[in-house]
Amino acid sequence: MAYIYNDVSRTFSEYLLIPNLTTERCIPDKVDLSTPVVKFKKGEECELKLNVPIASAIMQSVSNDTLAIALARSGGISFIYGSQSIESQVEMVKKVKKYKSGFVISDSNLRVDNSLKDVLELKNRMGHSTVAVTEDGTSTGKLLGIITSRDYRVSRTSLEKKVGDFMTPFSKLIVGNLGISLSEANDIIWENKLNCLPIVDKDQKLHYFVFRKDYDEHKQNPYELLDKNKRLVIGAGINTRDYAERVPALVEGGVDILCIDSSDGFSVWQKNTIEYVKNNFEGMKIGGGNVVDKEGFLYLAEAGADFVKVGIGGGSICITREQKGIGRGQATAIIEVAKARDEYFEKTGIYIPICSDGGTVHDYHIVLALAMGADFVMMGRYFARFDESPTKKVKRGNSYVKEYWGEGSNRARNWQRYDLGESNSLKFEEGVDSYVPYAGKLKDNLDVTLSKVKSTMSSCGSASIPELQKTARITLVSSVSIMEGGAHDVILKENDY
Ligand code: IMP
Repeated sequence: MAYIYNDVSRTFSEYLLIPNLTTERCIPDKVDLSTPVVKFKKGEECELKLNVPIASAIMQSVSNDTLAIALARSGGISFIYGSQSIESQVEMVKKVKKYKSGFVISDSNLRVDNSLKDVLELKNRMGHSTVAVTEDGTSTGKLLGIITSRDYRVSRTSLEKKVGDFMTPFSKLIVGNLGISLSEANDIIWENKLNCLPIVDKDQKLHYFVFRKDYDEHKQNPYELLDKNKRLVIGAGINTRDYAERVPALVEGGVDILCIDSSDGFSVWQKNTIEYVKNNFEGMKIGGGNVVDKEGFLYLAEAGADFVKVGIGGGSICITREQKGIGRGQATAIIEVAKARDEYFEKTGIYIPICSDGGTVHDYHIVLALAMGADFVMMGRYFARFDESPTKKVKRGNSYVKEYWGEGSNRARNWQRYDLGESNSLKFEEGVDSYVPYAGKLKDNLDVTLSKVKSTMSSCGSASIPELQKTARITLVSSVSIMEGGAHDVILKENDY
């Protein structure tokens, strides 16, 4: 007979946290949000920790290089989506690894034989007015000059005029040598009243620009997540089909950690993929998932996963539960997997972090997930709203929105995520194509979210995530008290306008 779970499977909004005693020890400013991402032995330090317990989803509409840079600079981690060619995924990984705070890789580059028309088209497309002129027209070619909007007058200059005839040539440029620090670069900028300083190597090849306007931004990222060589940390999503080609290329590109991206991770193909990585790339970290129960967790733990991702069907764009009837309330899934993780730790002395993936709607859901035992959370909808996500910003009615689509939608066509094994038989969607309200810069929003997280943890009497996991008190709420949670029995003023 089939096994029937009699307990209801629940989600975050059905719970609240009960305050514990707050003291000077755990005021919001003292709350430590660092958290482990990969497994470690009892008594040993975890090799990879996040400074804030947040990851961005492995999705085309979420995790590209620009979002990854912004999130790592704020202390979290992105997993660059795997539903793209190996070359373009590796390219994104490389861009993140090459990123140096304040040192910008030029994305507007031309050759001397391009025309003013090309300059204007590029400016329109990229939104930047500084163009590097290099021998081969790439961002790393030999620097021959630069063009800014001061070098031409559209009304007076022929559109056919060649770049080489009106650029500021290299001989007249002030440049910095590769290897100088940001503060040295800024000194040169200030002393020479420059707007931008190209950084070149001994062969005159361009590496970066340092812009005057970025000066203030550099100092505002105390949480920045860096590897031992002071480069940003980056993850990448992989699948259980082309790993033998994809993983070597990603490792070569400098990726720090991999994660198998699948809607159902309780499969032999995940085991095969984890074993492949562990046998071929010593020290490479890899997470598996998604699972929603003890059995799934233990299977991936035994297979060698460094972390396990939890959640099926809770994502905002997800229709897996409707299409296949598979899933579990996210809170129940986390509670059960966290219990299994703790038992596994007791038995083996190995702590395997778990990640709550999907269905995080309110900021306090992050704290609930952590209190229930998650070590970090992964979010898609949350990040899709920001400037840095890869999707188009469009105007709908009186407001701006950004596009957000599921990996299992016809738009993404990431069938490997859903169709297990070799069958290629999938013929239905498990995700939708949608809009989310545009919300501005990642950092501005994440700063608010993190201050709420810290404030909630402070109310729970916790100065760290491990402490919260041990001492939080969580209560179920009735549907009537959920109504009580919002403003009620008052006439909101905004309705009068
Ligand atoms: P969100 O933060 O609630 O938007 O959920 C994001 C998560 O939904 C991702 O990290 C994936 O685990 C999951 N997901 C992404 N695309 C799809 C899809 O098309 N169908 C079902 N789940 C998806």
